[in-house]
Formats: sequence, C-alpha cells, structure tokens
Amino acid sequence: MIEVPEILIDEAAIAGKVRELAGRISRDYAGKELVLACILKGAAVFTADLMRGITIPVSVEFLQAASYGASTTSSRDIIIKKDIDSDIAGKHVLLVDTIIDTGETMAYLLKKFADRRPASLRAAALLDKRCRRSVYVPIAYIGFEIPDKFVVGYGMDYGERYRNLPAIAELKTVLG
Ligand code: IMP
Ligand code: MG
Repeated sequence: MIEVPEILIDEAAIAGKVRELAGRISRDYAGKELVLACILKGAAVFTADLMRGITIPVSVEFLQAASYGASTTSSRDIIIKKDIDSDIAGKHVLLVDTIIDTGETMAYLLKKFADRRPASLRAAALLDKRCRRSVYVPIAYIGFEIPDKFVVGYGMDYGERYRNLPAIAELKTVLG
C-alpha cells in the first residue's frame, strides 16, 4: 500500500481564504491589539500566513495540546503540553488552529484560556469538519467546511509527514 496525497484545496484557494479571514479579523479588532495563540504544530503554517495579512498590531504566542484516549468514541483527556509564556489577562486573544474535528481540543483550550480573564477570547480555524463535532464549540472565523476526510498539508500531518505540502490534500491509500 502506498499513500497518495490528492489535492482538495490548492495554494491559490488557501491564500485567498487566508487573506479574507485576515481582512475580517483586522476590521473586527480595529483600534485594538490582538494576541494570536497558535496551536502547535499544525497551525504554525496557517498562523504565519494569517498574521502577515493582519493590519492591526498583533503579537504571537505558541502552545501545544496533547490528547489521550480514543479520538472517535468517548471523550479524550486533553492537556496543555506546552503553554504560552505571556499573561493574557485583559488582552484580546484569538486561538488559532488549522482544523476543528471533534472540537474537543478547541473547547478545552477556550475553557482554560477563559479562566485567565482575557478582555475577549475567540477561535479561528482554516478548516471545519463540522460533521465530526462531538462538543459544541463556537468558532468565530472559519475558512472552509470540509467533509469527513483525513487531510494533510499546510501544516497538517500524518505521522509527522506532509506538513510541508503547500496545498491541502486528502491522503488516499492505493495498492503499490
Ligand atoms: P479535535 O480535538 O478532534 O477537534 O482535533 C483537532 C486536532 O486533530 C487538530 O488540531 C489536528 O491536529 C488533528 N486533526 C483532526 N483532523 C485531522 C485531519 O484530517 N488531518 C490532520 N490532523 C487532523
Ligand atoms: Mg497530527
């Protein structure tokens, strides 16, 4: 069996959508300063592009979540494996991930970050697999809604590979 990445969303479509989201964010937070909280590793590429399209003052922070247990059935235990190193109290914070699947990771992070008393707290994701949602999670900025397919590229991995793919692809396995 060999894996073949089949392009779902090409570079131009991603760039156009990222520009659109960055424009909306810049308008919504006009006159304010924004902290972009990038969820590693997947959102590194999206965050890097998004921040360059934002025209208001931004700072960037990085965090990493880890989850244990089944990803399909019962809810997982999620922890913050690597935390941001600045105090977000009184700040406007936007949590950034590339994809929302069950929603459990983002729901957990929103709850944890809300406890730190930011001035405002929202979430952004380039991709939304809404059909897989197991918990309610409000996402203020969404790029594309996609069907229940495993995707790689633009920061997203399969066994740590394919993060460098510039487009978003569905990973298909074929007989080799
Ligand atoms: P959730 O907690 O189920 O919403 O999972 C979100 C995380 O799962 C994302 O940040 C990704 O790291 C990972 N993930 C979910 N779906 C995919 C996919 O199709 N390809 C790659 N990673 C995915
Ligand atoms: Mg992964």
